[in-house]
Amino acid sequence: MREKDITILAIESSCDETAAAIVKNGRCVLSNVISSQIALHKQYGGVVPELASRKHIEKINQVIEQALEEASMTLGEMDAIAVTYGPGLVGALLVGVAEAKSIAYASKKPLIGVHHIEGHISANYIENPALEPPFLCLVVSGGHTHLVKVKGYGSYEILGRTRDDAAGEAFDKVARAIGLGYPGGPKIEQLAKEGDPGAIRFPQAKIADNPYDFSFSGVKSAVLNYINGCKMKGEAIVEADIAASFQNAVTQVLIDHAMKAMKEFGLDQFAIAGGVAANGTLREGMRAACEKRGIRFYHPSPVLCTDNAAMIGTAAYYEYLAGTRHGLDLNAIPNLKLGER
Ligand code: KG4
Ligand code: ZN
Repeated sequence: MREKDITILAIESSCDETAAAIVKNGRCVLSNVISSQIALHKQYGGVVPELASRKHIEKINQVIEQALEEASMTLGEMDAIAVTYGPGLVGALLVGVAEAKSIAYASKKPLIGVHHIEGHISANYIENPALEPPFLCLVVSGGHTHLVKVKGYGSYEILGRTRDDAAGEAFDKVARAIGLGYPGGPKIEQLAKEGDPGAIRFPQAKIADNPYDFSFSGVKSAVLNYINGCKMKGEAIVEADIAASFQNAVTQVLIDHAMKAMKEFGLDQFAIAGGVAANGTLREGMRAACEKRGIRFYHPSPVLCTDNAAMIGTAAYYEYLAGTRHGLDLNAIPNLKLGER
């Protein structure tokens, strides 16, 4: 038993969410404050990096203050300050990194830089006290699609990744094509409820030299071609059928790849993470596939799937235990690789 609680202030600002959380002993979230910029970026159809940075600088102190207040704690009671330092939008990351460094310097607390994907994976620990490595995790977000073998806390092997668009990016682009706006994922999911997933056959790409890699640019192009074809032929476009059929094609590829890896690597625990993991059809599909094979299936609540700082606090706790400490020269690394320190 650990004698003293370890409480961490975690900051996340890698994309369009300004977030701060207080996390105790890795899995107990005392507060989780998220200031979303969706309303700001919606009018442009996607995230505008420059605007994201400016909004982060405006909101970050408020968000941290609120996180401390909701946890009824002070900065002095923190054991470490954690921050996402990559991957992500460089200007957005810099706001969180500079803030965390200032707080760590002024309060003489250790600073822990966290990899954003490690955060997404760690979101699974929060509501699943029984989950411990090893397990396989499918990370599907707006910027990433990774099939990762979690060998231990902080120890990862990437089995597959996307060769082009991320899964969430494909959702966002298809949503734009059928006039749903940003962010596309939740809107496609909603519209798909009224459509037939078998109405249109969209391609499910396989990569010849790695069965665990993904490609989503083909399905995205197929949707755009289908829409153009309908327009040229003067046929009616049924958006709900497009949404349901596209969602079905993406979900099937994700399930197939994940289950193939589970079998080959002989793992019995599987988790999903990232914004797209909030998708109900994907969750239910994965749940059924796991049940059939006797695999334990884990997923975070939707609010812990999309970007948040609680997941960064959880990842930071295990980094803290492993002795990870960053200097005050910590910089944002927009293309940081998983497993790098
Ligand atoms: O993890 P996240 O918040 O940010 C990144 O690290 O990228 O993921 C955002 C992505 C967006 O592309 C969004 O459209 C997608 O996750 N997303 C969804 C759903 N909710 C969010 N995709 C499908 N279904 C959803 N319900
Ligand atoms: Zn993310």
